[in-house]
Amino acid sequence: MAPASSNAPVLAGVVGHPVRHSLSPVIHTIWAKRAGINGYYIPIDVPPSYDEFARAMDSLRVVGFAGVNVTLPHKEHALRYADKKSENAQAAGAANMLTFSDAGASAENSDTTGFAEAVREQRSEPGISALVLGAGGAARGVVLALKALGFTDIRIANRTMERAVALAEAFDLAVIEWGKRSQVLENTDILVNTTSLGMSGQPSLEMEIGALKPSALIADIVYAPLKTDLLRRAEENSHQTVDGLAMLMHQAVPGFRQWFGEEASVDDELRGELVKELNRRGKT
Ligand code: ATR
Repeated sequence: MAPASSNAPVLAGVVGHPVRHSLSPVIHTIWAKRAGINGYYIPIDVPPSYDEFARAMDSLRVVGFAGVNVTLPHKEHALRYADKKSENAQAAGAANMLTFSDAGASAENSDTTGFAEAVREQRSEPGISALVLGAGGAARGVVLALKALGFTDIRIANRTMERAVALAEAFDLAVIEWGKRSQVLENTDILVNTTSLGMSGQPSLEMEIGALKPSALIADIVYAPLKTDLLRRAEENSHQTVDGLAMLMHQAVPGFRQWFGEEASVDDELRGELVKELNRRGKT
């Protein structure tokens, strides 16, 4: 829904539970300031049930919100709530963006396109062979992104085999035993960690990366800490890397374009501000 008058500020936000940790308000506020836009991007904590989520979305629409980003545990709720769903969101089974208009709510998944953009930023032709660690919602989005980037040989390794098999069957991928993850790296063009291993407070990821070819790219979706042990070792071995912050910044671009009406730029200055914020929160 458009703001009530042309002088009214544009309203958008991020909905999650918890939501205080989200860096999205920092990103959008920096972009709005840069563009001189009269707008607010607000963190909104909504309890975990679908009913609470739907009620909150109905209220935001009445108030005149242009749209929201959606984070855990509401990404599936966002897809269910929407009247219109992008192909990407449908394939991912989850949405991280809802845009409101008089015609209804439309759902998108920019986590997927954000990851693809972050990889493309490093490599215009990232390769064909990928190893993805993990089989949760994040892995699903990463697999869709890798397919969009042209990867044709995608393998999944996950601690719980059944989840790896389910994801592999859904997307026609190969499965690697979790215990063999370090033994299948020889021809791999990209290694992606989508598990929570390496995140502060979680066990570290045990992964021997010495067999990767020098040109292989290593990506980790974890952003607290920003330099996970995996990325630190990747850099020591002179591999190019994609960190969780790159993905986070790129996933925010479509929402800003949609709701604030301007193109946003992912650059070193933005990264610097976000690193400062993470430092302030004691997360790097
Ligand atoms: P998300 O939707 O964010 O991907 P998730 O569905 O909870 O979150 O998935 C977390 C991923 O981290 C899973 O692949 C999980 O493996 P399981 O499917 O076996 O649970 C992985 N993970 C979490 N803790 C792990 C651990 N200690 N060792 C190995 N994998 C772990």
